[in-house]
Amino acid sequence: MIPKVKIFGGCVVSIIALGAAAVCVSLMFPLFFAEESRSKGILFDFVKWSTSSNVIDNSLQSPDVMVDGGLDSVCEQQLKVYVYEFPRRFNFGILKHTQVDLDLPWPDDEVPPPWAHRSRVEKSHSVEYWLLVDLLEGRRGDKQFIRVRDPKQADLFFVPFFSSLCYDTYGGKRTGLVSEDKAIQEEVVKLVVESPYWKHSGGEDHIIPLHHPNAFSFSRHLLNASIFIVADFGRTVPQVSSLKKDVVAPYYHVVPTYEDDNPDDPFNSRETLLFFQGTIKRKDNGIVRSKLADIIRNETGVHFEDGIKNETGYHQAAEGMRNSKFCLDPAGDTPASCRLFDAIVSHCVPVVLSDKIELPFEADLDYTSFALFYSVEESLEPGWLVSQLRNVSQVQWLQMWNRLKGVSHHFEYQFPSKKNDAVSMIWQQIHRKVPDIKLRIHRKERLKIADWWNW
Ligand SMILES: *[C@@H]1O[C@H](CO)[C@@H](O)[C@H](O)[C@H]1NC(C)=O
Ligand SMILES: *[C@@H]1O[C@H](CO)[C@@H](O)[C@H](O)[C@H]1NC(C)=O
Ligand SMILES: *[C@@H]1O[C@H](CO)[C@@H](O)[C@H](O)[C@H]1NC(C)=O
Ligand SMILES: *[C@@H]1O[C@H](CO)[C@@H](O)[C@H](O)[C@H]1NC(C)=O
Repeated sequence: MIPKVKIFGGCVVSIIALGAAAVCVSLMFPLFFAEESRSKGILFDFVKWSTSSNVIDNSLQSPDVMVDGGLDSVCEQQLKVYVYEFPRRFNFGILKHTQVDLDLPWPDDEVPPPWAHRSRVEKSHSVEYWLLVDLLEGRRGDKQFIRVRDPKQADLFFVPFFSSLCYDTYGGKRTGLVSEDKAIQEEVVKLVVESPYWKHSGGEDHIIPLHHPNAFSFSRHLLNASIFIVADFGRTVPQVSSLKKDVVAPYYHVVPTYEDDNPDDPFNSRETLLFFQGTIKRKDNGIVRSKLADIIRNETGVHFEDGIKNETGYHQAAEGMRNSKFCLDPAGDTPASCRLFDAIVSHCVPVVLSDKIELPFEADLDYTSFALFYSVEESLEPGWLVSQLRNVSQVQWLQMWNRLKGVSHHFEYQFPSKKNDAVSMIWQQIHRKVPDIKLRIHRKERLKIADWWNW
């Protein structure tokens, strides 16, 4: 059977612009009415892939057209993704919605279970869940990828293992189940590396979410060729994880998004100058928090408090961020922290004090237009940080606040995913890596002398 793809209008427009109109049009029209593939439940979705996410362009949407797979080479935007058929005890089973059939994959014709019954802290690493439900849904027209059932057609392979949730469920010292987390990791590695698709590419075309700094910790080095979806590079080494091959993804924010943030005077209505509420005593990079506490706690306009991780605490944090001009984002146990994303969705200008932080979607977003960055060293000089913030003019602050309102949708995970939300942005980052990956895989296949020139 020739798989049918649903082509998104924008792609057609761009092809025409490239002068390949004749090819496209002649391929498209004979198949315009060929809708039969829907009935088999095998519907491949296609999306126009926007290169500039800052400019949200809805103007290219036009009626869907059916074309056959032969257009792939012309329409390079489409990513074909194969999802490994893993037992659900590696993914939704860990969410505990389903106690039956844990050894079977999630069925195609069933709606994936909602994310539920887990703490907000666990949810902050839930990118693995949102990517998988997006892939399994695969029925809407406006996606950046097609989920293919035939691995031979795939550009990329998705490993549906909830590595962060697995760590949170079994891996923490409290649970006494560390060996279980380790055993699952080993099972996943075995399934992946023994697959012919891994052997073919060496794993470069595999996508593995690994957001919690302790996720997949026992075995990730064995899959180090793959595209990891990470929070930062806090507890790893460059041979395992790097900016070049991996994708930095946002935390799922723990405070709710500030929906109707339209006061008459946003600058003055946010009465607190600088807000921080969280765990003050942290390990490693987080030591800066206690030092800062001593230095700035008593300054006027500064709220610097130890946070409580319960509903009262989250509610207070949300209120506090909405009432502050600036929100402090010092390093936590690792360089990144969920607090940055809480600040963004609260439209509170982030003040980032974390020398080794890496940020999501930085090819598309210039963070300096809506956040301030200071080195840890300078921030620890008494009085310095607060004087910097007081010196930011109302006009400058309003520009950043407006920008925050314009970018905060890039940090939302949701199902179904929306255009340029976090899931969609992650697909765009992955997409950019594909030409390089393909070049290396194709080249490797034909080289007689293994990498004769330093790649
Ligand atoms: C993966 O690890 C091996 C062994 O440490 C190393 O030789 C290789 O370069 C690493 N791959 C990447 C992509 O860093
Ligand atoms: C901050 O104020 C509290 C109470 O007013 C006081 O106990 C503490 O020593 C002050 N800290 C600094 C660094 O001035
Ligand atoms: C959260 O914790 C604080 C301090 O331990 C407590 O006073 C408060 O009642 C708790 N709130 C909820 C909703 O559990
Ligand atoms: C305050 O801002 C002004 C203008 O933006 C700048 O010239 C000045 O150096 C700043 N002062 C401090 C203490 O940073």
